[in-house]
Amino acid sequence: TNTDENCSLVTLDDLTHEDLHEVLDTAAARKATASGLRDQPLAGQTMAMVFEKPSTRTRVSFETGMTQLGGHAVFLGPDDIHLGHGEPIRDTARALSGYVDYIIARVFDHTDVVELAEYATVPVINALTDNAHPCQTLADLLTIREQFDGFDASVAWVGDGNNVCQSFTLGAAMAGLDLTIATPEGYEIDDEVANHAAELGNAPQETNNPKTAVADADLIYTDVWVSMGMDDERDQRLAAFEGFQVTPDLVDDRPIMHCLPAHRGEEITDETLESENALVWQQAENRLHAQNGLLAWLDNQ
Ligand code: CP
Ligand code: NVA
Repeated sequence: TNTDENCSLVTLDDLTHEDLHEVLDTAAARKATASGLRDQPLAGQTMAMVFEKPSTRTRVSFETGMTQLGGHAVFLGPDDIHLGHGEPIRDTARALSGYVDYIIARVFDHTDVVELAEYATVPVINALTDNAHPCQTLADLLTIREQFDGFDASVAWVGDGNNVCQSFTLGAAMAGLDLTIATPEGYEIDDEVANHAAELGNAPQETNNPKTAVADADLIYTDVWVSMGMDDERDQRLAAFEGFQVTPDLVDDRPIMHCLPAHRGEEITDETLESENALVWQQAENRLHAQNGLLAWLDNQ
C-alpha cells in the first residue's frame, strides 16, 4: 500500500505544472495504445470508491480504468458503508487505508474530501465536491490539447461558476489557456479560486455578459445551472441564468464542451449538443484516459 499522503488530488493545484503535463503525457501515451498491448501497473491494487451522489462517467471510467490497469475497484454507494450513518469520515479514511491503495470520493461538502485526505494514508482523489472536479479538468485539458494541438486557445465559460468551472479555472491557469468566464451576478467563481489562478500564472477575465465572453473565444464550455443537491434553488437559478443558454447563435460554429450530464433546454439547446461542434463525447471518453494517466503516474511517484 502506498503510504505517501502527499499524492492526493483534492484540488487540481495539488499537482505542480510539471506534474500536470506528465499526467497528460501519460494519459495521451496510454490512449494511443488503447487498442494495443497495455501494461498493468496497478496489478494487485485496489481502489475504494466512496460516492454520496449519482454518477455515470466518473464511476464507470474509474471502474473500467482500474480493470485496464490491472487493479480492482470497490464501489461504495451511500447505503453501502457506515459513512453518513454514524461513522465519521476520519474513521472511514483510516479503516479504508488499511485495505486499499487509493480512495476516490464524490461528496457534497468539499471539507469532507479534505478531511478524508488528511486522515487517509493512501492517495485520495476528488471525484466531485461542491467546490471542485479536478478529474474532469484533466479530461478537459486532454481534449483541448487534442483539439488545438496544445494550449494556445481562448476558452469562454458560459454559465455557473461552479465546481467544474473552478477546477477548470485552475487548469486553464496552469496550462496557459486564455479563459473568460461569463456568469450571472452572484454566481461567479470564489475570489479565492480567481486569486489562486493568478498565482498559478493566469487569472481568468470575468464578466456578466455571455456575448462579451465568447467574442474572441475559440471554444465555449458550459455546465448545468442546477448542480446535484441544489434542487431547492431551482426556480431562482432558472430565473438568474436567463440569457445564458448556449445556443447555435452564441456558438457560431465553434467547438463546444460540456462535462455532462446536460440539461437540454436549460444551459444548452438540444441542437447545440447534437451538433458536430460538440466535443462532449470525446471529452467524456477522455475521463477514462486522463484518469488512467493520473493513476499510472501516481503509481510511479
Ligand atoms: N462529468 C461527470 O462527472 O459526470 P458523472 O456525474 O456522470 O460522473
Ligand atoms: N456541476 C455538476 C457537475 C456534474 C458532473 C454538479 O455538481 O452536479
